[in-house]
Amino acid sequence: MGYQKVARASDIPSGRGLCVSVDGIDVGLFRVGKRVFAMENRCPHAGDPLSEGVLEKCVVTCSAHGWDFDVRTGFRPDDADGFPIPCFAVRIDESDVYVDIEAVINMPPRSPSARPKV
Ligand code: FES
Repeated sequence: MGYQKVARASDIPSGRGLCVSVDGIDVGLFRVGKRVFAMENRCPHAGDPLSEGVLEKCVVTCSAHGWDFDVRTGFRPDDADGFPIPCFAVRIDESDVYVDIEAVINMPPRSPSARPKV
């Protein structure tokens, strides 16, 4: 499938995320300076959308119970050995944001059937 255009960089609010759907997967987009990061938009604690959390620098804090994640790596800041949230390759071209959900940049790819049910 490769890169797909999902948003304009200016669509992503400052200090928050933007949820987009890519091939049926909810992806949270987060803008940090001029860079955009994409990761699965499901908090591993109880499944709430991380795009509705608060983003400070590179860390988003889930609005439900306060778990936090580094949007660059998908790891919790205080648990670098933990299991990360899948993060996807992002490309920006003239302010258009492209995401490749097959290019998981922080962990081995998982098949859709292996994804946990919400
Ligand atoms: S659902 Fe995210 S911290 Fe509980």
